Amino acid sequence: MENMFERTLLIIKPDGVGKGHIGDIIRRIEQEGFIIRGMRMVRLSRDQAADFYAVHRGKPFYEGLLNYVTSGRVVLMALEGEDAVSRLRRVIGATDPAQADPGTLRKLYAENIERNAVHGSDSPENGVREVAFFFKEEELC
Ligand code: RTP
Ligand code: MG
Repeated sequence: MENMFERTLLIIKPDGVGKGHIGDIIRRIEQEGFIIRGMRMVRLSRDQAADFYAVHRGKPFYEGLLNYVTSGRVVLMALEGEDAVSRLRRVIGATDPAQADPGTLRKLYAENIERNAVHGSDSPENGVREVAFFFKEEELC
């Protein structure tokens, strides 16, 4: 199958920001060849976080997840590139850093399965949807 040009959302979560890994993560994203179309720092409201993570509503970790992602500032990055979704997931590594491959962002910077430093969209459809959740089209360049 041909490679597809895709959009994906990266979030540097509160632990990644708090521990001073913004620069490390942006450097890696640039080295990996992603195009950064938009970037912004925000503190998510409870409503925004609940909406963004609505697919996880009802799961045992949901409340903890909302508390965590609203606990501090996050960096939002709208990325594009060939196979951007699966490539970013590979760079990020497994949800649980204990299971993540060496050199992945979560192996390098995550504390545990809950405080895992970064988010990446999990499908091309969700990549488009999640970028649009945080960025107006005219904010992307
Ligand atoms: P993400 O959406 O943040 O990129 O992470 P993911 O796809 O690797 O994992 P997902 O299943 O979508 O879970 C979303 C986030 O919820 C927290 N989580 N905690 N305690 C737990 O078992 C558990 N499982 C998930 C993590 O912060 C995870 O990234
Ligand atoms: Mg996910």
